[in-house]
Amino acid sequence: MTGKEVRQKYLDFFKESPRNHKEIPSASLVPENDPTTLFVGSGMQPLIPYLLGEAHPLGTKLVNSQKSFRAQDIEEIGDNRHTTFFEMLGNWSLGDPARNASHSDAGGYFKKEQLPWFFEFLTKVLGLNPKRLYVSVFEGNEIVPKDTESIEIWKGIFRNVGIEAKEGERIFSYGVEKNWWSRSGVPDRMPPGEPGGPDSEVFFEFSSLKHDPKFGEKCHPNCDCGRFLEIGNSVFMQYQKQSDGSFQELPQKNVDFGGGLERLVAVSENRSDIFSVDLYQPLIKEIEKMTDKSYKDAVNKPSMRIIVDHIKAATFLIADGIMPSNKEQGYVARRLLRRAAVKMHFLMGGFEPRPDFSAIVESVKAMYQGIYFDNNTGEGKIEEIIDEEMNKFAKSLGKGLKILESIQKADAKVAFDLYQSYGFPLEITKEILQIKGQRIDEEEFRREFEIHKNLSRSTSSGMFRGGLADHSEQVVKLHTATHLLQQALREVLGKHVRQKGSHITAERLRFDFTHPKQLKVEEVEKVVKVVNEQIQKDLKVDMKILPLKDAISNGALYVEGEKYPEKVKVYSVGNFSKEICGGPHVVSTKALGYFKIFKEESLGSGIRRIYATVK
Ligand code: ALA
Repeated sequence: MTGKEVRQKYLDFFKESPRNHKEIPSASLVPENDPTTLFVGSGMQPLIPYLLGEAHPLGTKLVNSQKSFRAQDIEEIGDNRHTTFFEMLGNWSLGDPARNASHSDAGGYFKKEQLPWFFEFLTKVLGLNPKRLYVSVFEGNEIVPKDTESIEIWKGIFRNVGIEAKEGERIFSYGVEKNWWSRSGVPDRMPPGEPGGPDSEVFFEFSSLKHDPKFGEKCHPNCDCGRFLEIGNSVFMQYQKQSDGSFQELPQKNVDFGGGLERLVAVSENRSDIFSVDLYQPLIKEIEKMTDKSYKDAVNKPSMRIIVDHIKAATFLIADGIMPSNKEQGYVARRLLRRAAVKMHFLMGGFEPRPDFSAIVESVKAMYQGIYFDNNTGEGKIEEIIDEEMNKFAKSLGKGLKILESIQKADAKVAFDLYQSYGFPLEITKEILQIKGQRIDEEEFRREFEIHKNLSRSTSSGMFRGGLADHSEQVVKLHTATHLLQQALREVLGKHVRQKGSHITAERLRFDFTHPKQLKVEEVEKVVKVVNEQIQKDLKVDMKILPLKDAISNGALYVEGEKYPEKVKVYSVGNFSKEICGGPHVVSTKALGYFKIFKEESLGSGIRRIYATVK
């Protein structure tokens, strides 16, 4: 089956009676009202307000195919199943039947509908052999009990097709790492206010790999060895994290299903390499033409996969308005293009200083014509934008490669210079060095970056991990400390203090604010004292989602000039501070330990900058 067929069949299956879903369009890859992430990485992301209880204009049952981009997977690209860009087929029930019984649009659904429907789609519509399917459910923890309900449902589903599905053989239970889903990951990493829940995944076993001794006795569906491929995830999104760290049931029980289109096409053809399906093959053909090398040749596979994935992703990002740059989303687009260029350079035997990707871009546009591209959205410019970016990089690529050639032992300083002078993203330097059997210390590299203060925001630590903001514990603490700092500055210096900028790394916070003159030593000491007093009081951090107007009239601080959505999250720290902010934050302030300011300086024109940290 082609990608187009599988996509259409899935949408039709959920739109048909008795499922009666309404189709919604794919949102842009750039999140519209979510400052916490750079990209839309799953179908549920644009639907969060509705999962939390807001009524969706199209009712309680929705289906779509969502363009998705996961930058965190960037270093995994090259194997047979990971991509940065993919399409997520999704269906949702916003609320369970009980709640909606009195609703004019009664008929939301939950586990006992979702699991059989997806199974029916796989076996009847895609024609997969049920014997090749394995499932997993949540094993339970202190928050949520083991999902025995799903186990019973799965047993019934398999029994109907003559298969006795036993636990440990066909039905597997795993903990939060595998069978809990929220946008931020496991329960501990979820910020207050975020919805999540246990999930149930389906895996396809490639018959050709079943007896391959490589996979051994211990291999199981979720071990990520390649014998099994995860093809769909039904999340029972029924909990919301509270500001005290506990979980409460949402007023509605949602289903959030997502399945990767490219993977579903691959299994419909029993192919374990998703790059062998029609959503990639025409692009790979273009590379074969350009390089005179064959995809069949195992040594070429990783590079060719990286090039097609990255150029496809960059094409979609640019189509959604992202220009390659040094900041945020733009920097991710730049990294994709540069990495593809380096791979192409080596595939061409080191000869092509300025790869021409236009044939691949053309091919991507043709592939999605009428689906995501319609020939009149300025997409003609994509080739030009990529070409210009390649032009800029071509000279540096040659020079940078020469330097890498010539050095005996690379260290963080060399990697940093390559970044700064020749625009080599760290992963490119790492890869080239790997070919030479060398490695650099990433920590050292990060420190090197810190020394060079005037770098763009997105190049410092948080963004290394593929563009996603870093939600590590220390970063979360510093985020809450920033709120305390702003309020303390307003109390000590006056209400004219407003945030002008904020940036956090794992080591420190940096806060820019309006104030006409240098702070006196006593003022700095006072601010530190006020912040530490609040920390000692162990104030609770609370989050509310409010219409923007209400948030501002309630006195929540906001950043002037910033675009906010109609509804915003307002974080309060006790009665001390209230700000519009995407979070996440600590549960209560004691976690911060001790707050310290280590530098105060001028940024000119009435703006001061403070560096501080907590321990
Ligand atoms: N939102 C769920 C996922 O991305 C379905 O896996």
